[in-house]
Amino acid sequence: MIPEEVIAEIRSRVDIVAVIGQHVGLRKAGRNWKGLCPFHGEKSPSFNVAPDKGFFYCFGCHKKGDVFTFVMELEGKSFTEAAEQLAARAGISVPRLDESPEQRRARGERAAMLEVCKAAAEIFRENLRDRQRGVPARAYLESRGVGDAISERFMLGYGVTDWHSMADALRARKIDLELALKLGLLARQPRAGGYYDRFRDRLVCPVVVPGGDVVGFSARILPSQAPSTPDPRGEPPKYINSLESLVYKKSRLLFGLAQARDGMAAKGRAVLVEGNFDVISLHQAGITEAVAPLGTALTAEQVEQLRRLSGEVVLCYDGDRAGRTATRSALEMLVAADIPVRVVALPDGEDPDSIVRHAGGAKLTELIERATGGIEHFCFEVWGKSRESADAQSRAIDDAGRLIAKVANPTKRDLIIGTLASAMKLDVQVVRKAVARQGQAAAEQGANSSRNARGSYHPNAPSHPNAPSEEPSYSGHQQAESGNSVHSGHAGSAGRFGPGPGTGSGGGSERRMGHAPMPPPPIEEVELLSLLADHPSLLTTADADKAFSLLTDGRLRDMYSAARQGQSMLELAHAHLPQPTADLVLSGKYAAITDPKARLTALTDPLVRRAADSGLRSLGQRLAEAKRSGDRELERQLVAEILSTRK
Ligand code: UTP
Ligand code: MN
Repeated sequence: MIPEEVIAEIRSRVDIVAVIGQHVGLRKAGRNWKGLCPFHGEKSPSFNVAPDKGFFYCFGCHKKGDVFTFVMELEGKSFTEAAEQLAARAGISVPRLDESPEQRRARGERAAMLEVCKAAAEIFRENLRDRQRGVPARAYLESRGVGDAISERFMLGYGVTDWHSMADALRARKIDLELALKLGLLARQPRAGGYYDRFRDRLVCPVVVPGGDVVGFSARILPSQAPSTPDPRGEPPKYINSLESLVYKKSRLLFGLAQARDGMAAKGRAVLVEGNFDVISLHQAGITEAVAPLGTALTAEQVEQLRRLSGEVVLCYDGDRAGRTATRSALEMLVAADIPVRVVALPDGEDPDSIVRHAGGAKLTELIERATGGIEHFCFEVWGKSRESADAQSRAIDDAGRLIAKVANPTKRDLIIGTLASAMKLDVQVVRKAVARQGQAAAEQGANSSRNARGSYHPNAPSHPNAPSEEPSYSGHQQAESGNSVHSGHAGSAGRFGPGPGTGSGGGSERRMGHAPMPPPPIEEVELLSLLADHPSLLTTADADKAFSLLTDGRLRDMYSAARQGQSMLELAHAHLPQPTADLVLSGKYAAITDPKARLTALTDPLVRRAADSGLRSLGQRLAEAKRSGDRELERQLVAEILSTRK
């Protein structure tokens, strides 16, 4: 137990926006901050942080709490662990009153593992800096054009050639070597007993999580590695990685995430590359939003992290066969999760690092900026390769259909089908049928295997089925890793908040109208006023402002702004509205509800949809016109605009 006053002090000293901002891309909205909820998959931000109250709240999934709850829930920690982490952040020391041995062990092991990782990172770093020992690694970095600043930022290190260097250094720091064994820093000597170093003569890239903890290492072989240490299993692997453990779960990690978080927020996108070295090289070239999935195929958990931290993902994989295959499977994951995605297709034999080295960072930045939409890319790619035979063509159409079937929004799906059909010079019906067929097949498959397969990231979810293996295995760009584990879980958000507008008791106002000189305001807008009459504290919130920007009735808009200035709703209603409508506003129907903010969102949603629909209608008309006049450029722009409005 931690004393109350210490908890209070932590609460007051820690900046909740900064803590949550490490996990969620937050944008200022009035007094509050807003972002995509980290606890449920969503496309538009319903997650709010109120720094003055020290609270967060999600209008979508209704999760709420303070900074302690947030850390506990998101990082799967106990209260004590969360408090200690936050205390450390604020420079407060926590006296501990009691703790069961079991609690201590659980908390202790994780914390101790992080300590070991931190120590090991320092030791690797010292090796790299050491005038003599560091020579091979520094020479290698130089040969690849990696400068000191970026080496510092990524905390790069060197595991020396010696077999016991790490074990000795850890022992000297009084570190429990069994933990280092579990982490995969050391391995057990089969006959002699004791331990030996796993990361020998390798350039070591620490894997750092947002928040700054080192959770593991991914270590690249140096070309200098002498054949004097023959490996009975043949070629040594290019990379050796940390073992799966309490702190290192590779399916949830992205290499470079800690370093890329700010870049991702600033640029509103993540650039996904395959290799650690691509990440390092791109960051050095100013492409600081680059991350890589540590050699595995993209997983659902990684997708959710990307969704939270950036608005869009640009795939920039190697220009080889493996890269193209990996692009395809990543694309499926991202499309299914409804994350905007574009693709940079690199020329054969190039990878992002080689482009930066040979053509410069500006060139790659340009390629990233001009990247094509993911679905278009995919379809043209498979289509372009299938000209020869009817067989190949029908396979290509089915592949495209499978991907498009993952687009949850039907309008968006239709637009894509239209674009593709015309680009492929196919009848729309052919593509539409393929989509329907593939969607059906996926649904049937999903029905057999989904149930537990929700794409969202949850730290307490059972760990990834990949068993930790004694030696790290790497089987190219594993397709099996992600499989079909993501299903589009966006089953329409309407109705999530209980009865919507118009289904309540107020639906009769028009009928009761009788002889009013003016037509009554739209009922769904009146409902909003009723809610605010009963919960005036909502009046000054960003959400209410948003709702009222969507009102079409001038009387209601006037009432809102006057009420916002402090005028009484009672007077305003009588002054501005026909009697029956005023009665409705003042009926007190929302007085007893306990979730006024959520209700506000529920009442606003239809207005948002209505505004988007009317925008779409006029875009649609303009699109039809552009098509008629043959203006391809305008057509393309309008399609893009329609897609982004739909979003
Ligand atoms: P790459 O072979 O493309 O590595 O593997 P790289 O980092 O781009 O290195 P260079 O540029 O060729 O020197 C991509 C990623 O796959 C994982 C690593 O995370 C690597 O960065 N990988 C690769 C392994 O985990 N083990 C391996 O044996 C090979
Ligand atoms: Mn590579």
